[in-house]
Amino acid sequence: MYDFDQVINRASTACQKWDDLQKRFGVHDAIPMWIADMDFKSPPPVIEALNQRVKHGIFGYTSRPDSFYEAIIDWVNRRHHWQIDKKWIAPSPGILSALSLSINSFTQQGDKVIIQTPVYHPFSQIIKSLGREVVTNPLNLKNGRYTLDFDDLESKIDSTVKILVLCNPHNPVGRVWSLEELTMLGEICIKHNILVISDEIHCDLVYRGYKHLPFASISEEFANHSITCIAPSKTFNIAGLQTSCNIIPNEEIRDIFNQSINNQCIGSPNAFGIIAAESAYRYGEEWLEQLINYLQGNLDFVIHYFQENIPHIKVIRPESTFLVWLDCRELGLTPKELDEFMLNKAGVAMNEGYIFGVDGEGFMRMNIGCPRSVLEKCLCQIEGAVNFLCKA
Ligand SMILES: Cc1ncc(COP(=O)(O)O)c(C=O)c1O
Repeated sequence: MYDFDQVINRASTACQKWDDLQKRFGVHDAIPMWIADMDFKSPPPVIEALNQRVKHGIFGYTSRPDSFYEAIIDWVNRRHHWQIDKKWIAPSPGILSALSLSINSFTQQGDKVIIQTPVYHPFSQIIKSLGREVVTNPLNLKNGRYTLDFDDLESKIDSTVKILVLCNPHNPVGRVWSLEELTMLGEICIKHNILVISDEIHCDLVYRGYKHLPFASISEEFANHSITCIAPSKTFNIAGLQTSCNIIPNEEIRDIFNQSINNQCIGSPNAFGIIAAESAYRYGEEWLEQLINYLQGNLDFVIHYFQENIPHIKVIRPESTFLVWLDCRELGLTPKELDEFMLNKAGVAMNEGYIFGVDGEGFMRMNIGCPRSVLEKCLCQIEGAVNFLCKA
C-alpha cells in the first residue's frame, strides 16, 4: 500500500504551491490549496527510473525512443479504449504551449475562440494575448451540477469562430462529459467547421462511477476535427517535468502543428520528462488506482464535512480530478471580500473563483490533492472562520 497520508515538507524545493505563497497571495503562512499539483510523491517506479537516469551522469540532447510512444499508445488503449497510431502523437513541452501554438496556427488575428466558463483561466489569457477574441459559452448550473448549454453555443457561432477549447474532464467544475454531451457538441462544431481542442489533462483521475471518454474516440469525423491534449503530469504528479503530447489523427492539421513546434524550436524533449512519462505509463497503474481511492476518500470527507459543519458552503461534487469547486455565494461576500476572508480569516490559499470567468464569482477552487490531515486542518480553519462570520 502506498502511503498518501505522509506529510512531506515541500518548502524550499522551488515549488510554486508552497514557495510562491508570498508572491502570489502576499502571505507566507496560509495552507496552500491552490495550484493544481499534489503533495504526494510520484510513483516509486518513476522515481527509480529517474534515479537510474541521474546515475548515468550525462544529460545531453535527447530524442524520444519508440518505447516512449508505445507506452503512451498502450496507456490510452488500456485506460481509455482508444486505439491511437504512433504517427498521430505530436509531443509538446506542456498543454498550454500546445494550446497557444494551435490557436496561433489555426486562427487569424481577430478570429473567435469559444471557451466554456467557468474554465481554467489561462485559456482566455492565451486567446486574448494572441489577439483573438474570446467567446464564452457559459455552463449551466442546476441543482449543484453543471451542464453544457447548446442553445447558447449555437447562438454564438458565426463564420469567424474557428476553435472551441473543450476541457474534458472540466477544470474547475469537475464534470466528466458524457457520450451524449460530447456527441452534441461535436456535431455542432463539425457543422460549423470549428476545430475542437480537447484538453484532457485530467482524464486519468476519474472518480468511481464515471468514465472518461476521449472526444476524438467517438467517431472518425470527430477525430479528424480535433486535437486531443494529454499528459502524465496531473496523473502522476510530474508537472514540473514538462512533458505532454497531442493526438492529431488529421494529417493536414498534424503537419501544421508539428511545423509550428519546429518553428518555435520546442521540439526537443526534456531528458527526465520522457523517462518519467514512460515509466509512469508502464508501471504506475497500481499507484494510480490507490491514489484515486485515496482522493475518493478525501472527496467523501470534504463533502461530508461541509454538509455537517459548514452548510453555508456547497460543494459541487466533482466527477474527476483533485480540484473541488466550492459555492460560497451564501456567505454574502463580494469576490474580493471572499478572497480576503479565505486567506486572512480562514488561513487557506485557494484559487479565486472569478479568475475562471465572471460566472465563477462567489466560488473558490480547493485542491484536495494532499494528505487527509492537511485537508482536515484546512476545513477546520474554514469552519471556524465561517462560524465567526455568521455570528457577527
Ligand atoms: C485543464 C488544464 N489544462 C492545462 C493545464 C496546464 O498544463 P501544462 O502544465 O501541461 O501546460 C492545467 C493545469 O492545471 C489544467 O488544469
